[in-house]
Amino acid sequence: MGKTIRFGVSLDSDLLEKFDKLCDEKSYQTRSEAIRDLIRNMLVEKEWDEADGEMAGTLSLVYDHHHSGLSQRLTELQHDSHDLIMSTLHVHLDHDNCLEVMVLKGDGKQIKELAHRLISTKGVKHGKLGLTTTGEELV
Ligand code: NI
Repeated sequence: MGKTIRFGVSLDSDLLEKFDKLCDEKSYQTRSEAIRDLIRNMLVEKEWDEADGEMAGTLSLVYDHHHSGLSQRLTELQHDSHDLIMSTLHVHLDHDNCLEVMVLKGDGKQIKELAHRLISTKGVKHGKLGLTTTGEELV
């Protein structure tokens, strides 16, 4: 085990308020413990990410379509990987927010790269990749 390092995090106050409420609900004693768990979860997900081959999955994105150039950027990224995207569903959640769900199929590594590019695009509020199997190897 390494030594403990302190580091600062810049966060929107509304987001921090929600995080604190969540920590309370989940009985975390400190923010640090909650952040440690978030980091551990990301590391576990990384282990899953190292599985390869033909995969299928769904990617959901929530974003504000007013965010400058965002809709266009997301469309461009999707066109660049059109061979992986079987279908896209767009729902206008309210005046500002959009939910986009993509059904993906193809090389697992490429699916993950596309998902990471879309999720990390500036202005995307939330993104989640759910990986599954094409079913071919299952009885
Ligand atoms: Ni929309």
